[in-house]
Amino acid sequence: MPKWTSWARVSVPRWADLMAQRANYKPRTKRKATESVRTLISSAQIQRRIAEMAKEIRRDFPNDPLHLVGVLKGSVFFLTDLARQIGGEISIDFIAVSSYGSDTHSSGEVKLTRDLDSSIEGKTVIVVEDILDTGMTLQYLLRVFDQRKPRRLRVAVLLDKPERRLAKVRADYVGFTIPNEFVVGFGLDYAERYRNLADVGVLTLGTQAKKPA
Ligand code: IMP
Ligand code: MG
Repeated sequence: MPKWTSWARVSVPRWADLMAQRANYKPRTKRKATESVRTLISSAQIQRRIAEMAKEIRRDFPNDPLHLVGVLKGSVFFLTDLARQIGGEISIDFIAVSSYGSDTHSSGEVKLTRDLDSSIEGKTVIVVEDILDTGMTLQYLLRVFDQRKPRRLRVAVLLDKPERRLAKVRADYVGFTIPNEFVVGFGLDYAERYRNLADVGVLTLGTQAKKPA
């Protein structure tokens, strides 16, 4: 056996473990992660607005079968409510993209992770998104969809954060224009949590110093 393997296996004790072994050691403070959600838009407001948006969409396309394309996963709640409010012929499909970055900020680099099940050629397509933020996701999707020759291509978003826009895109139907805050609920998540909240709320992250017991 080469000589170096013998010292490579020596494990260095962690500072925290060493300190914990000292009988009189107590950490001075514990930092506890805190998250809170403040309601911004109530579920009743959301439902009223979705009914209005559905009417606007049907008014613009009174006779067309509409093909709703939801962007997974954030749009799911919005899409299902919208689809039930728009009368007439509707079909639905889903696409998934990932944008790299942290939990609250995307880097702007978008990648297709799940494609549509069926062709959109010749169809009246409504792209359904939870939120229009920098616009990088929508810009990417519109490029992809445009190449597939839909008859019409429109965009419906529940929320619009225009202050953060980087890409030159706009939605045809906007539920609510909101300030530059990170929001969760009604499909929108923070690290995959909070999607199931009926309201949309502003998420505050922080750490709170907590005295040990
Ligand atoms: P964009 O490409 O920056 O326009 O945003 C794309 C995606 O980022 C959205 O579809 C959301 O999934 C996510 N996102 C942007 N802003 C928020 C937010 O405030 N809360 C939760 N997700 C967000
Ligand atoms: Mg999304």
